[in-house]
Amino acid sequence: MKIEYRETSDDLMKRIDIHSRYGSRDIDQWMLELLAPQKGIKILDVGCGAGKLCFSFYKHLDGDCEIVGGDVSLELLEKAEKENQKRDAGIRFMELDFNKPFPFEDDTFDLLSCSFAIYYAENIPFTISEMKRVLKPGGKLFTTGPMPQNKQKFYEIIRKATGQTIPPMPGSSRYESEIYSEVQKQFPKADLIIFENPLVFDTAEPFLTYTGASLSEDRKLWKNLFQGEAGFDVVMEKIASVTEDEIKQHGSITMTKVVGGIVAVK
Ligand SMILES: C[S@@+](CC[C@H](N)C(=O)[O-])C[C@H]1O[C@@H](n2cnc3c(N)ncnc32)[C@H](O)[C@@H]1O
Repeated sequence: MKIEYRETSDDLMKRIDIHSRYGSRDIDQWMLELLAPQKGIKILDVGCGAGKLCFSFYKHLDGDCEIVGGDVSLELLEKAEKENQKRDAGIRFMELDFNKPFPFEDDTFDLLSCSFAIYYAENIPFTISEMKRVLKPGGKLFTTGPMPQNKQKFYEIIRKATGQTIPPMPGSSRYESEIYSEVQKQFPKADLIIFENPLVFDTAEPFLTYTGASLSEDRKLWKNLFQGEAGFDVVMEKIASVTEDEIKQHGSITMTKVVGGIVAVK
């Protein structure tokens, strides 16, 4: 299944910022506790974006590790590389399309991570088999993605504002079902661990920033809700009005991120 989708650096950074400012938990901390990575290991982060996870691993391991971050977005890779140089981290950022064979030998990495990206793959069995192939025997696969219960408040407000059905999202509609079952099929051992993070908004503005960066036309995921920039502005105005009403009525809104972490061992 080909998924028309494009992440822009601006939208991704806005969402990351809102998570860190309004969330009650830190997903990277959760991941590090869950995986307990050891110094000296070789890590491949697939769909690395601006390198958020790569830098978390690097910091946690005091730089004593070899990290490769791969993504298709040159814009995000450039951002990652800038940060890499600023930190003098020596992480290797490179172009990698997870719909194509990975440019690595079999049995290369101890840990392969893929955060909020695997569900954009065109052929899930193929991408997972590439992930497994480049892992060493005993190596770990770690992926994150949204569960079906993810951010219900967000969808409820959009439904209320537009009166339209929410299109099936590539993540929440396939992660727990299609993707987890494929990992279970290909790996001898796989577990799904849930991470919940309530984001609490006392004012509408940050929620609207998050919503705008999720719906934006650039990402191409919400095409049935609006056409073009003018259509986007109209939808955002309606969402703003529903959000403000909700906050007036309840004092705040809580959008809970419900994320599944898949951990599998080769
Ligand atoms: C929501 S972002 C997550 C980025 C990063 N992992 C993070 O957690 O901040 C999804 C990422 O998947 C990348 N992506 C989408 N299609 C891809 C493909 N075919 N191959 C590699 N990366 C891809 C996007 O460019 C984007 O960086």
